[in-house]
Amino acid sequence: MSGAIRTQVGIVGAGPAGLMLAHLLHLEGIATVVIEARSREHVETRVRAGVLEQGTAELLVETGVGERMQRQGMVHRGIELRFNGQGHRIDFHDLTGRSITVYGQPEVVKDLIQARLSYGGEIIFEVENVAARDFDSAQPRIVFQAGGEPCEIACDFIAGCDGFHGICRPSIPEGALTIYERLYPFAWLGILAEAPPASEELIYANHERGFALMSMRTPAISRLYLQCQPDEDLANWPDRRIWDEMQMRFQTSGSFCLTEGPILQKGVTGMRSFVAEPMQCGRLFLAGDAAHIVPPTGAKGMNLAIADVRVLARAFRAFYGAGSEDELHRYSATCLRRVWRAQHFSWWMTSMLHRAEGGDGFDYRRQIAELENVTTSRAAATNLAENYTGLPFD
Ligand code: APR
Ligand code: PHB
Repeated sequence: MSGAIRTQVGIVGAGPAGLMLAHLLHLEGIATVVIEARSREHVETRVRAGVLEQGTAELLVETGVGERMQRQGMVHRGIELRFNGQGHRIDFHDLTGRSITVYGQPEVVKDLIQARLSYGGEIIFEVENVAARDFDSAQPRIVFQAGGEPCEIACDFIAGCDGFHGICRPSIPEGALTIYERLYPFAWLGILAEAPPASEELIYANHERGFALMSMRTPAISRLYLQCQPDEDLANWPDRRIWDEMQMRFQTSGSFCLTEGPILQKGVTGMRSFVAEPMQCGRLFLAGDAAHIVPPTGAKGMNLAIADVRVLARAFRAFYGAGSEDELHRYSATCLRRVWRAQHFSWWMTSMLHRAEGGDGFDYRRQIAELENVTTSRAAATNLAENYTGLPFD
């Protein structure tokens, strides 16, 4: 692949944001080209998040890419909060009438790639030296190399869907963006294990040894996380130590025991809150992780990415259909309202559940008081349930 390509919207990044945007625009008859730095295999297999808000799951179904999710995804009507050796269920369905679907991000990515290729849509994988150019004019360009050959996409707009480490956000002139950021003094050690989940629903555990989360990918595969140090060395975590630590953190006064099995994958993920404002510069629009990061405790990352591109696709429809730029002008402000709601929720869940090191016991007691409130007050539980299952789209 080399040479000059012309399209309406040039999309950088084939994660959930870029692929869903391409799909929504295809349904509107708007032409796109997607470029991606990694291989198809890489984006389809990297281990990522796995909780879809109800609205995200519904959008996949409504736009014709939800069939496999409906067959293989696991619909959960609640989660468990575990502290002081006792589990407390937050019943989403009773509190809000809503639910979530556990379905891995790589599965969403596979379904979107499959859909795009089935209608002849273009995704150029393994591109290099990508640069976004001239987005302060009406003729933006994306330049890159594919298979070692120079290429250029001439387009009306660039969608920067290239994640936190992408090139789109850094290509915006200094001073045009304001960055809001918090780093947390802990990280998650995550594993994927060939072991049936010990509970049907997710368990978020606050333990004096640190936070732990039990999630899953299928009825045979568990996904588990442990709070650890940001610079944690995986070499210090042989499988036996991981299971022992997990068992301790999920222990109850009853007979709960995690099912153990071979560990298929391990990794350490740092935690941060990050927002770049505005999510637009000229004809470059940022979406998903390129514009914001949330700590994973609220399971909001992928859902926010999908919510952004829903707004962006609607704005492009108004531009190409009615010739109106109003929605494009409002894109950033519209998205940021949801982004900041999710920022607050994710920060709140994180601070309620993680162990602050070197504390004098104040924080721990404050957390337990908060957890007791959330698990005994219907009003407080409803607030958690509304945020977790996803607030209505704008
Ligand atoms: N050129 C092309 N593609 C790039 C470049 C580049 N210079 N840099 C990064 N990319 C690709 C990455 O390889 C990745 O496939 O952009 C894609 C961005 O995808 P994600 O990181 O998945 O981000 P996004 O689509 O916004 O989805 C957000 O991903 O990280 C999780 O927790 C997060 O669930 C959330 C979701
Ligand atoms: C996951 O299944 O990977 C997962 C679930 C819930 C979270 C974060 C990650 O809050």
